[in-house]
Amino acid sequence: MTTYLDNAATSFPKPEAVYQAMDRFARANLANPGRAGHKMALASEHVLDDGRHRLNRFFNGKGPERFVFTLNCTDALNMAFKGVLEPGDHVITTDLEHNSVSRPLRAMEKAGKITLTRATADGSGTVNPDDIRAAMTPKTRLVAMTHASNVIGTIQPITEIGKLVRERDALFLVDCAQTAGVVPVDVQAMNIDLLAFPGHKGLMGPTGTGALYVAPRVKVGVWREGGTGGDSSSETQPTEYPYFLEGGTPNVLGVAGLSAGIQWVEAEGLAKIHAHEVDLTERLWKHLDELGGFEVFGHRDMSRRVGTLSFRSEALPATEFGGILDQAFDIAIRPGLHCAPYIHRSLGTFPDGTVRVSPGPFNTEADIDRLAGAVKEILS
Ligand SMILES: Cc1ncc(COP(=O)(O)O)c(C=O)c1O
Repeated sequence: MTTYLDNAATSFPKPEAVYQAMDRFARANLANPGRAGHKMALASEHVLDDGRHRLNRFFNGKGPERFVFTLNCTDALNMAFKGVLEPGDHVITTDLEHNSVSRPLRAMEKAGKITLTRATADGSGTVNPDDIRAAMTPKTRLVAMTHASNVIGTIQPITEIGKLVRERDALFLVDCAQTAGVVPVDVQAMNIDLLAFPGHKGLMGPTGTGALYVAPRVKVGVWREGGTGGDSSSETQPTEYPYFLEGGTPNVLGVAGLSAGIQWVEAEGLAKIHAHEVDLTERLWKHLDELGGFEVFGHRDMSRRVGTLSFRSEALPATEFGGILDQAFDIAIRPGLHCAPYIHRSLGTFPDGTVRVSPGPFNTEADIDRLAGAVKEILS
């Protein structure tokens, strides 16, 4: 059986309760939510409603209706950028970002719609709040950044940054793809106006799930116009949240799994999950130090990182490591640039990238020892 260590891409396996919830719902009530008013449609609508309430409690939002279900985190980020930014706006982002943040912003910059400043992380992979403050101009409308790097795992000081962004009355968007379900996120305490996250990583839901939280103070333009299940008489998209941003049949089966995933995460506790994943990466780091000849990236203070570790060796390119680990050892990691080219340029690992190892809640010390043994064998 595959040793899966690619949880930063998507978590696997899911908790048993997630499979069961989806199976149960698919067999009994998988109707189109809200559309018809019959019992199955209502049961289906209830699944969405329950999911939104859960997310609202989990992230301390200002109302379940402010959580808009999306296809994934990328979808949520696009909805935010394209719906919020106006010609002439200045945006601040960082060199840690995933392409789902960097590409839409760079495209808007190239089109002359916005101006963009990219703050750089320090050697540990942390963005300094003073650099964000220094980059702010009277035209700064949005600061958009990740909560933790998907390459080196460093957790960003978003509470401090959120405070200074609010003081300047700009908007604060946080991509918590790598922290949702692992590190606490409180949108009110952290002054987060837009929170984008996938359901299929740390929240343990299936692929095809994600959401955008839109704080009541934010005005987002219409996204996907179409049927919403209610108010069919309106000639244009109803303005009521979440339906304003949710045209079309939603992934209610996915949300059934996502809700079970969140329940599982709450029962385990974020602190336990985080500690487990970080302990495993620390174990790997020690193995690599013992083997010698590796450059390992990220914060050595384990409280400042999530369970994602990147390394490289002069002896073998990252992609070759990936291929051999997969083919010869049945170990799944992710080599390369991880859709985050700017941070690889800053680290000096562009264009070959690094070997990224990202354990999840179900990995064990034996998995890490197996990986370290395989790496040793490859290099010998
Ligand atoms: C930091 C970060 N942001 C955004 C994304 C995009 O997530 P999704 O694949 O759900 O669109 C990822 C995916 O790996 C990520 O790591």
